[in-house]
Amino acid sequence: MRTTARGLSERYGCTALKKNPDSHIWVNEIREEDEIYGSYLVRTKRLGMTRNGDPFLSLTLADRSGEIEGKVWERANELSALFDEGDVIEVAGRANSYRGQLQVTLSGLKVVKEVPDISLFLEKSSKSISEMMGSLREILGEITDSHMRALVEKFLSDRHFMSLFKKAPAAKNFHHNYIGGLLEHTLSVCQLARMVADHYPELDRNLLLTGAFLHDIGKVNELQFERQIDYTDEGRLLGHLVSGVSMVKQKLGALKNFPTEISLRLEHLILSHHGTHEFGSPKRPKFLEAFALHLIDDLDAKVNGLGRFIEKDTQKGDWTDFNRLFERYFLKGRVQSAEENEDPGLREDKRQRALF
Ligand SMILES: [Fe+2]
Ligand SMILES: [Fe+2]
Repeated sequence: MRTTARGLSERYGCTALKKNPDSHIWVNEIREEDEIYGSYLVRTKRLGMTRNGDPFLSLTLADRSGEIEGKVWERANELSALFDEGDVIEVAGRANSYRGQLQVTLSGLKVVKEVPDISLFLEKSSKSISEMMGSLREILGEITDSHMRALVEKFLSDRHFMSLFKKAPAAKNFHHNYIGGLLEHTLSVCQLARMVADHYPELDRNLLLTGAFLHDIGKVNELQFERQIDYTDEGRLLGHLVSGVSMVKQKLGALKNFPTEISLRLEHLILSHHGTHEFGSPKRPKFLEAFALHLIDDLDAKVNGLGRFIEKDTQKGDWTDFNRLFERYFLKGRVQSAEENEDPGLREDKRQRALF
């Protein structure tokens, strides 16, 4: 018979479940000694053994605000058999600190079969999906080459593709790793591509804009994002560059007399946009627009990824925690303008004078 959270909470004397069964304590709001209640995603699960030979369960519990370690000291073997990594569990427990790290000691848990609200676990873009789609369609409407325009239209009118494209994250980690992130990143890359094409008239605007739109389309097949963002088998085996090229080839099959010269260049734009072999591109950029697209993509990914890293940092002081990807600490905050530093009284005085 499955042990219910209420049963466990009664057995372990935990009253949190009874007090407020509808509440969810966000991970980033948990403080030492807090009583915890909520539904959390099990990111990792490990069964360990204490020095006395008693089994215990070590979990990484997550919601969209962050991750926290969870420990189960009693009946670890039995409870471990009830759920797997990727499942959602309803827990009751108490927060405590161990070696300076906050963790939750669980007093009760039960598996949640039907997740009521996926937004508990996955972050969403702060921007409106329909507004972003409107802006993207507007930019793509500027493509004047009839072949490239027709290809773009094939994707925009593919309902299955578009429903995934609007929801997908752009990555598992680092940049735009939230629902709507792929659309947000693609729109941003298209907007930058438009500015770059205006600045450098020697670039083929149609090619750069079409490449900007297509460069990451393979991510709709590379990533799955039901409860947490993870790679699919296709993502692990092929990756979004190769998947993206296959998707383009498939659409091209329905377009008659599509010039080979354009299709080759578009496929190269997708395959080379990571810039180097080391970062997963089978070919390095070999024409001007491919170089530009790689640099634009890199810029947009880094400004978003680093910006979020700095914003989410909880270290006290001016510097962030160590960033493993970039192997450095980052300086937080921003420079205050002369006006912001000014005495408010003085500012008012100046304004008065400006009136005369
Ligand atoms: Fe990419
Ligand atoms: Fe990208």
